[in-house]
Amino acid sequence: MKVFILGATGFLGLPAAEAFVRAGHIVYGTTRSERSAAEKLAPNEIIPIVADPYSDEGKKVWGKIAAQCDVVIDILSANGAKSAIDIFHNFLDHLDRLKGSPKPTYIYTSGLWINTRGYGGLDKWTDERQPTSTYNDAVQWRPLIEVPVLESEKVHGVVIRGAVVYGRDGSAFASYIFDEALKASKTEEKVFDTVYSKETRIASIHTDDMADLYLRVAERGPILKGQVFMASNQATERLTDILDAVVRVSGCTGYKAKPPKGAMQEAWISSTLIKPSLGDALTGWRPRKMSLVDGMDIYWSSYLANKRLRDTE
Ligand SMILES: NC(=O)c1ccc[n+]([C@@H]2O[C@H](COP(=O)([O-])OP(=O)(O)OC[C@H]3O[C@@H](n4cnc5c(N)ncnc54)[C@H](OP(=O)(O)O)[C@@H]3O)[C@@H](O)[C@H]2O)c1
Repeated sequence: MKVFILGATGFLGLPAAEAFVRAGHIVYGTTRSERSAAEKLAPNEIIPIVADPYSDEGKKVWGKIAAQCDVVIDILSANGAKSAIDIFHNFLDHLDRLKGSPKPTYIYTSGLWINTRGYGGLDKWTDERQPTSTYNDAVQWRPLIEVPVLESEKVHGVVIRGAVVYGRDGSAFASYIFDEALKASKTEEKVFDTVYSKETRIASIHTDDMADLYLRVAERGPILKGQVFMASNQATERLTDILDAVVRVSGCTGYKAKPPKGAMQEAWISSTLIKPSLGDALTGWRPRKMSLVDGMDIYWSSYLANKRLRDTE
């Protein structure tokens, strides 16, 4: 297959692009940076397309190449519904295939917080078969792009909703927890401030496991049109267990709660109770990495190493 990845240098995008390369596919990946093209994409056999995906000029560049591909995946950093719809429409505008030609698969990367129902029992539980929720204000824009992708007649549209993703540079776990713990570990008190509530349960997934789901879904695109997959481990973890594990590996002595500010931080401490099954049922996908708490020694070291690399750039 020819695969086109928008956001191929990203936390989710790079492992996904590498998974397609390893599986033998021809992979194109966008970046706005010549340096990332030379250092992250080309060395990993990902064909770099250097363009700003949202600019008029960039849209022409990537739209033309993406239109020749069998799979297009939007893994750009989230920027609201308008920009994601713009990206989807630009791809559709460039599609010009003879009648009867196979349709391409289009995968939009969304997030699990659009299914969150909060902490509780089975009434709060969710999976791919459950409707979306209005619980988290921060993500109420997601259906505005998900629905047109899923209902499009021009593509095999699929949505992958990621849980909170861990591994490598830590992504949201770095900004909410690791960065604060690292700073505090160098102080006398060794106590870090972080946004949490005692009851919060986090649904998470390793970035390599999510990459494997992209690959499996993309290869089966023509029979998965209109499906939503949830990329999450089979069990959730209590946020305080994650924080306790960070205390253990960072040399800190504890943590203090700071109140959530704004809708994103409210979403961070919302509980998403989930055990996904559609990825396994339709593609044989099963996450293989250790959970965040169990593998914290590895994930903390990887976070530190990635931070050091970034700081010396
Ligand atoms: N990370 C998570 O835990 C998580 C969980 C669930 C869902 N998601 C969703 O997955 C998607 C990707 O997330 P991510 O964490 O992988 O994102 P990311 O690493 O922050 O960004 C992905 C790529 O988007 C490009 N980009 C960033 N800002 C841009 C801008 N202003 N204009 C054009 N391109 C830009 C960058 O490529 P260049 O700089 O090379 O151009 C970057 O490598 C988002 O929709 C996010 O909401 C993420």
